[in-house]
Amino acid sequence: MSKLVVANWKMNGSIDLVDEFAKTFTADNLILGLPTIFLSPFRNRNSILKLAAQDCSMFQGFGAHTGEISARMLRESGIEYVILGHSERRSISNLDSTENILQKLSNAMDAGLSSILCIDENFDQLIDEKTTDLLRNSLGKVILAFEPVSAIGTGIVPNLSDIRETVSKIKEKCDGINTLYGGSVNSINAREIMDIPEIDGVLVGGASLKIPELTAILQASSPAV
Ligand code: PGA
Repeated sequence: MSKLVVANWKMNGSIDLVDEFAKTFTADNLILGLPTIFLSPFRNRNSILKLAAQDCSMFQGFGAHTGEISARMLRESGIEYVILGHSERRSISNLDSTENILQKLSNAMDAGLSSILCIDENFDQLIDEKTTDLLRNSLGKVILAFEPVSAIGTGIVPNLSDIRETVSKIKEKCDGINTLYGGSVNSINAREIMDIPEIDGVLVGGASLKIPELTAILQASSPAV
């Protein structure tokens, strides 16, 4: 079975790129994480691919929260996933505190959105008893992404054995929940990362903006023949 590939465009891309990606990709193991403003244009051009927002509000439903977008609004717009707790968000805003990330996770679950919850080496801070209970009750609607901060956007991937060890610890703590690896994944290293048995897929930033790179990573996500 193919492993999961989550693409995270971050604050990149254009309507032209939306057009090109919408024409190119239909893989059912690909989730495309776009800037919020591009989600509906993409959905209008391609009804097949699964889409992710890169965040949602800690507030539920509707309300006087200028600039916020709720999990419910995303779901109503045909979006299936939301990426939560990315370290880049945590570093720019104290609104992404552990408590608020867990509130967002709970809002996403209530709205029927699946979450991709980013964690780093300090996962113990986020994954405490309360979180593991939440994950247990999530009925498969949460995927974890182990993203060592030192690997994000740097081209430096940790030793495969270190990745394997940490992901094994995470899965042990969280009842074997599906866990991705993220940080400097590209067409060259995707296969060896994907070959780690405990890893259920990858979260790809920079390389996911280039069609040939993402195509090669998708190829690496299928078992070698
Ligand atoms: P990168 O980003 O692939 O550009 O390192 C990964 C991420 O931030 O999710």
